[in-house]
Amino acid sequence: MKGIVLAGGAGTRLRPLTYVTSKQLLPVYNRPMVFYPIQTLIDAGITEILLIIAPKNAGDFLNLLGNGDKFGCKFSYEVQPHPDGLAQAFIIGERFIGDDNVTLILGDNLFEHNFTPEIQSFKSGGRIFAKQVADPKRFGVVAFDKNNRVTSIEEKPEQPKSNYAIPGLYIFDNTVVAKAKKIKPSARGELEIVDVHKAYLREKTLDVRVIDGKWYDCGTFESLFEASDLVRAKALKKQPLIAKQEL
Ligand code: G1P
Repeated sequence: MKGIVLAGGAGTRLRPLTYVTSKQLLPVYNRPMVFYPIQTLIDAGITEILLIIAPKNAGDFLNLLGNGDKFGCKFSYEVQPHPDGLAQAFIIGERFIGDDNVTLILGDNLFEHNFTPEIQSFKSGGRIFAKQVADPKRFGVVAFDKNNRVTSIEEKPEQPKSNYAIPGLYIFDNTVVAKAKKIKPSARGELEIVDVHKAYLREKTLDVRVIDGKWYDCGTFESLFEASDLVRAKALKKQPLIAKQEL
């Protein structure tokens, strides 16, 4: 299993903070934001990690993370010239992925949930997650019937059919590269990750698991603040957010 951290984008909603550096390097309490998704991958035993970064602050990532030695990992880097959608990560990462399966995590997503069992037990198909939220319109949304079968998957729907958001951690088999290449840009001009989910759904190989625990995409001042608050509360109680050794 290989890991990709997607840390592109312009972070426009966090200006003026993101004039200084990229969103994923801003502090979440006592660590740069990107440490948390990296830790999620490392805890699951993933040591080959590709960071996909925007060109503008690429040097900051290299200064902070280097080749991964001090994390016991091998980090590689690719540039995403424009924020053209999450699914582009699998096209940019094609050579890195090679013949392996891959877990993609977004560089601004911070989870309390421990994904290690779900990553380590993964064999094939696609495995994504669902988390009840108050504001599903901001996310990809998955709806279920009474037998827990998926009935719809939509990106940022005006009228969400459920309050289950799809958080930014996705586990896919190697066919994801071919699937991503077939996707056409959406109305907002992006290669949408939900179109990858739908490709697996059509093949009846999409596994959707409900998670609990806190989850933040730290893309707004409010969520950035709340994420910091959670990490601080845990640090004061000496409960590291993430299971094993802390970065
Ligand atoms: C992206 C995805 C969306 C997902 C979200 C999780 O949204 O497109 O499906 O629910 O990440 O953070 P964006 O970051 O583009 O708003």
